[in-house]
Amino acid sequence: MLLSIITPTFNEAKNVKPFIKAISQAVKSTEYEIIFVDDNSLDKTYDIVKKIAKNNHKIRCLRRIGRRGLSSAVIEGCLSSSASYFLIMDTDLQHDEKKIPEMLNLIKKENLDLVIGSRFLKKKTSKGLSRTRNMISKIANMLANKIARVTLSDPMSGYFIIRRDVFEKIAPNLTGLGFKILLDIFSSSRKSLKFKEIQFYFKPRKYGESKLDVFVVWEYLLLLWEARLGKIIPARFVSFCAIGGSGVFVHLFSLYMLYSYLFSFFYAQSIATIIAMTSNFILNNILTYRDRRKKGFDAIKALIVFYITCGIGAAANVGIANSVYTGNINGVSGEWYISGVIGAFVGAVWNFLMSSLITWKQK
Ligand code: GDD
Ligand code: MN
Repeated sequence: MLLSIITPTFNEAKNVKPFIKAISQAVKSTEYEIIFVDDNSLDKTYDIVKKIAKNNHKIRCLRRIGRRGLSSAVIEGCLSSSASYFLIMDTDLQHDEKKIPEMLNLIKKENLDLVIGSRFLKKKTSKGLSRTRNMISKIANMLANKIARVTLSDPMSGYFIIRRDVFEKIAPNLTGLGFKILLDIFSSSRKSLKFKEIQFYFKPRKYGESKLDVFVVWEYLLLLWEARLGKIIPARFVSFCAIGGSGVFVHLFSLYMLYSYLFSFFYAQSIATIIAMTSNFILNNILTYRDRRKKGFDAIKALIVFYITCGIGAAANVGIANSVYTGNINGVSGEWYISGVIGAFVGAVWNFLMSSLITWKQK
């Protein structure tokens, strides 16, 4: 097989047929296949793909269950293929499929590692995006180029072609976090990559809606952290601690409200603790473990597990801080702030480990 077109899908039922048709018109003579990587879409996108795949050997579908994430979907789709080149593109036809032959020719002829479809090579803004998204895009590009040490006109692009052997070498180093697969590839590659960019026009979406909400900004920052500092402190731990920090404010604010207006200190403090833990749970579910997010009844079960593990974490925190404080370690014992920090750190690491291994266990 010469070319695998890898397309991540989440609720793209209406786009599957137009996508396949558009590709077959654009890439007539080429030997190709399309691999849809679907995260168990509610609209059963995978069903539609598999029905077509029954009679069409160019079409394949990888259905992932209990998972979310554009990047990890693309990575796993690529790993399932033995074609010489992978073309990554969105299913919603916002990426101009007519550019595929040009991209394929270019990567072959000039023996490049990648050819990237860029929205901003010639133009500074994209009509397919709102004004706010254009602005966010610019700031994010600047950060990306600084941190991942690349100079791309569109590091956020989700439209590019890459040689399989290059991809396979980088694959073990990819973080798979978030939705910026191209940036992940560049920052995870040990050697510098030979690439060219071509301009394309980012079309507005016809069917369905964008899956990228405001929370992806957080994921994006985590990816940048992981790229530069992930070996020292994992990005997920940073996210977890930042949310823990926010919990302190939630706690104090709730305590103030409850104690001032309603309850005795003991009850106010107890309820405030539960409110803070709940807020931490919700934020971690949306931000830290977005790719393993719990929903419905699973979320309630996970919340209870979270209460229990964090309760143990709090007990360990107090216990350890107290024994450090009352012990006889030179220069440490008797110092309230050092003992406090040590206790809090042990508690945070414990909570994080339990959350990663139990509450939001990877399926
Ligand atoms: N499997 C899977 N899992 N697919 C996903 C997920 C997910 O969690 N989230 C989104 N997708 C799929 C969508 O179904 C779509 O085919 C593609 O990824 C892009 O998602 P959109 O929701 O359409 O994103 P966008 O249009 O706002 O942004 C896209 O285009 C930008 C410009 O090229 C993304 O590709 C960005 O990464 C890109 O920068
Ligand atoms: Mn889109």
